[in-house]
Amino acid sequence: MSKTIYIAGSINTDLVIRAPYMPQKGETLKGSGFFTAHGGKGANQAVAAARLGGTVRMCGCVGADLFGEQALSSLRREGIDVTHIRTAEGVPSGTAVIVVVDGDNRILLDSGANACLCAQDIDAFLAEAEAGDIFLTQLENPVDVVGYGLKRAKEKGMYVILNPAPADRGIEKYFPYCDLVVPNETEYAILDEDGALSSRFGGDLIVTLGEKGFSCTSAGKTRTVPCRKVDVVDTTAAGDTFCGGLAVLCAEGAELVRAAKFGSAAASLACTRQGAQPSVPVRSSVLEFMKEER
Ligand code: RIB
Repeated sequence: MSKTIYIAGSINTDLVIRAPYMPQKGETLKGSGFFTAHGGKGANQAVAAARLGGTVRMCGCVGADLFGEQALSSLRREGIDVTHIRTAEGVPSGTAVIVVVDGDNRILLDSGANACLCAQDIDAFLAEAEAGDIFLTQLENPVDVVGYGLKRAKEKGMYVILNPAPADRGIEKYFPYCDLVVPNETEYAILDEDGALSSRFGGDLIVTLGEKGFSCTSAGKTRTVPCRKVDVVDTTAAGDTFCGGLAVLCAEGAELVRAAKFGSAAASLACTRQGAQPSVPVRSSVLEFMKEER
């Protein structure tokens, strides 16, 4: 039977504009195609895991405002257990301003209520978790609270996955509590500056490589797995979709590379649509896409 996926993380509203290039200092540049979308790395991963077939519980914080209310109802509609999403008073919900240039994005984030997540939230969230359940988290909440979550999850015997995004070297001391760390190339370069991640971390490592696929290092062996070319519209939440899909197959007991291939296929599909959560595919589309790949 599939294990439950516990995701502690951020919940944002994304304000997105397409631009021909990144504006320079003092420049007003005309963009186009403005839209808002539900986002936040934690929430995106929760939505991905739910749409891709997982049983998902999420812990996080929103503000007492319209963005927070809408984000919460949307997560509920996805079938995610939101019992441990707390509404914090006196702070705005997390907001990300995203500029998309040629399919790639630049993100400016105001953490807002995401900064209110605390150790007590984690304790309440993990109270019912069982050994073998999956714990997945990222770094858009306070780094030591995320680290506390990794430690508590490990103590409970959960399978602990860290997506260190955005990279913050303050998380390094918590690596020993992780079974699997999943950075992208930029995050990997920051976290591995002195070889800490590749030489001293004993767990498994998956580095996502954008249109080049991913590499997986397990038991001292590294394997690079390419992904299929797609017409990229917007890469926002591709990494989150990868992590959500990976977590689902890990919860089903799949071997690591197979789980990552599923996450990678889901991420490729997410790149073909715009927005964060609007771009996340459902399981049947991913399986169909993987069949075509063969
Ligand atoms: O990973 C993409 C996400 O990063 C966006 O949805 C945005 O909210 C930021 O958190």
